[in-house]
Formats: sequence, structure tokens, C-alpha cells
Amino acid sequence: MIIFAMESSCDETAAAVVRAEDGRFQVLSDIVSSQIPIHALYGGVVPEIASRAHCEAISGVARQAVEQSGVSLSDVDAAAVTFAPGLIGSLLVGVSFTKALASSLGIPLIPVDHIRGHVAAAYVEHPDVKPPYLALVVSGGHTSLYHVTDWNTFTEIGGSRDDACGEAFDKVGRVMGLPYPGGAAMDRLAAEWFALEREGDVNPFRFPTPAVADDSFDFSFSGLKTAVINTIHNEKQKRKSDELPDEIRREIAGAFTRTVTEGITKKLGAAIRETGASTLVMAGGVAANSHLRRAVEDVCRRRKTVFAVPSLHLCGDNAVMIAAAGYYGWRAGIRADSSLNAYASDEGSADYLAALERKAEHHENHADL
Ligand code: KG4
Ligand code: ZN
Repeated sequence: MIIFAMESSCDETAAAVVRAEDGRFQVLSDIVSSQIPIHALYGGVVPEIASRAHCEAISGVARQAVEQSGVSLSDVDAAAVTFAPGLIGSLLVGVSFTKALASSLGIPLIPVDHIRGHVAAAYVEHPDVKPPYLALVVSGGHTSLYHVTDWNTFTEIGGSRDDACGEAFDKVGRVMGLPYPGGAAMDRLAAEWFALEREGDVNPFRFPTPAVADDSFDFSFSGLKTAVINTIHNEKQKRKSDELPDEIRREIAGAFTRTVTEGITKKLGAAIRETGASTLVMAGGVAANSHLRRAVEDVCRRRKTVFAVPSLHLCGDNAVMIAAAGYYGWRAGIRADSSLNAYASDEGSADYLAALERKAEHHENHADL
């Protein structure tokens, strides 16, 4: 089948056309129009500007996705769209557009949860991944660990009690003077530090772990974030300058990154042991971090667990992942109608999805009779 997918939950307008057959995916087009240069001026996403930018970009992005795919609109069998969680105005743009498209083509409309979409990005390049598995989503808005027991059954077994991991990267990056969003620049700075460390340099900075000190699989990034930001301010004050020397920035980026990776791998190791999971999926924007990828890969190797992480371009927001998640929603019979709404948080959206799943099961049971 051919799926058209749309993603507009935050600051990327993305559309994709994907062929899905028996759990194998062929990406026919993958268009992402990023608003990062606009929001960089403000040091973070401005919701109202984001909604307007989605409105301006969406038709062109959708048209480009269809043109590049080589299929015509009449070949499309279903339309999938991110309907939660995210910025409500941004989500509404994608939901309204895709609703209209599905209705004009007379094809099913599949609502997709953005976080499950991130996880589904792993299926595209790792088609052998099958539930049950563990999934860690580390993004700008979420840090959550799920036990996925069926394609559409996600049980959250841990996560951040406060800030998301990517938020910590972005805030620390901003105070350090790195371009927005800070994650990618921090990755490079930390790499420079780790190269020096291999030659014998010692890092003077120590930060508190984000791994909560109990048996849960929970994290807390706000203490770490505040400690790093205070350190940056102290170092600036010591020098009576708003600019930090490169060597201090490298050391701070290195110590921060190591603290994050050690905290995450500690909890992941415990979660793999406790659940006996044979596969771990890591996804979301922060899953692009080269140090985190290496550290988690190491844990998985030691625990003989398959590690499935999307390649870099599928870690950040995109619509291919929404098509992959939409495919499994479609297979389960999940269909939205024109009353589909957008939800900023998981609260209302989880109930809505659960109701659609019950409806799909009911239909299936009746079809069997
Ligand atoms: O998944 P995503 O594109 O959007 C959300 O759903 O939130 O994630 C964006 C986040 C930002 O916080 C960004 O700084 C972070 O992913 N990020 C990284 C890296 N690349 C992007 N964080 C650490 N290291 C990276 N290489
Ligand atoms: Zn995302």
C-alpha cells in the first residue's frame, strides 16, 4: 500500500510518501521544511510564528512529496497525520490539511501519536524489529522509556520527571552561546573534548547525574541543567567576560555529555535486565547524538540486546516515521473521521486513540461472526 504522511507538531513541516508491504518500507519521498532559522532569532520555538510558517509551507511541502515520489495522488491508499502531542496551533495545521486531503481522495485517515512516530522510524531501516521491545524516546519535548508489547501497545515504564533531555541540551547550549538548537553543536564540542581526554587531559567539571537514585527508570534533567548553567555563569564571572574560552566550553560540553550518557545507560541497563528485552529502540532528536549512540550500543552489546536506532536524518522530526507508525495503525483498523482534533498533550489523545482501537476491535470481532 502507499501512505501519504504529514508531520507538523513543532518547527518542521514534513511530508512523505512511503510504500509499505508486510512490514517492509520503501521511502518514495521525504520532504522536511525546517523553521529553525526563523526560531533561532529568538533562541527557541515561538508557537504563533510556528503555526504561521506551517500554514505557508504545507501545500508546497505536500506537493513536493507527491511529485518526488513518482506516484500520483490517486495511487495513495491512506493518509497518516501527527495529531498529538505538540504545539496545538502547529498540529492543527497538519491535521486540517490531511483531513481535507483524505476526504477529497476518499481514503482512510490515520491519526498518529508523534512519540510513537519517533519509535516507528526504527522500523524503516530495521524491518526485523518486532514487539516486544524497549523503546527510549529522547527528544526536545520528551524523554520516555516504553515497553512496547504490541505494535500499538506502549506502556511507559520510565521517563523524565521534569525537563526533557533535548531541552537540557538546548538550554545549556544557549547559555554557552551555541547556535539554536544546541544539541548538534554540543555534540561536536564534546567530541573535541573526548579526543583531548584520550591524550590524557583531565576534566575538572563534575555534574549531578540525571538518573534518579531509586529503582525506577526515571530521569531528572532539571538539576543537571541548573548545575551546568550555574557553572557557566561562574566561569564567565571569574573572567569578567560573557565569552568563555574554547577549552572551558569543550570541558563543560564533555562533562555534561558524559553525565547524560552515563545516566541514560545506567537506567537502560537496569531496564533491559529487569524486562529481559532482547531489542532496544532509541529514537528522537537526541538519538542523533554520536556519544549517546555509542554508549547505548555498548550497553546493548554487553547485554546481548539488538540495538535499533534510526540513521541521523530519521531521528529528528520527519514524516517517514509518521507513515511507518500510520501503517501499523492502519493494520489495526484505526481510522479517524472528519471530527479528528489535535491534542497538545497525551492526556486527551491517549483516550481518543484507545477509543478508536476499541472501535476497530469491535468491527473485527463482528466481521469474524
Ligand atoms: O525529535 P526532535 O526533532 O523534536 C522534538 O520532537 O522535540 O528533537 C529535537 C531535539 C533538540 O533539543 C535538539 O537540540 C536535539 O534534538 N538534538 C540533539 C542532537 N541533534 C538534535 N541533541 C544532542 N545531540 C545531537 N547531535
Ligand atoms: Zn519529535
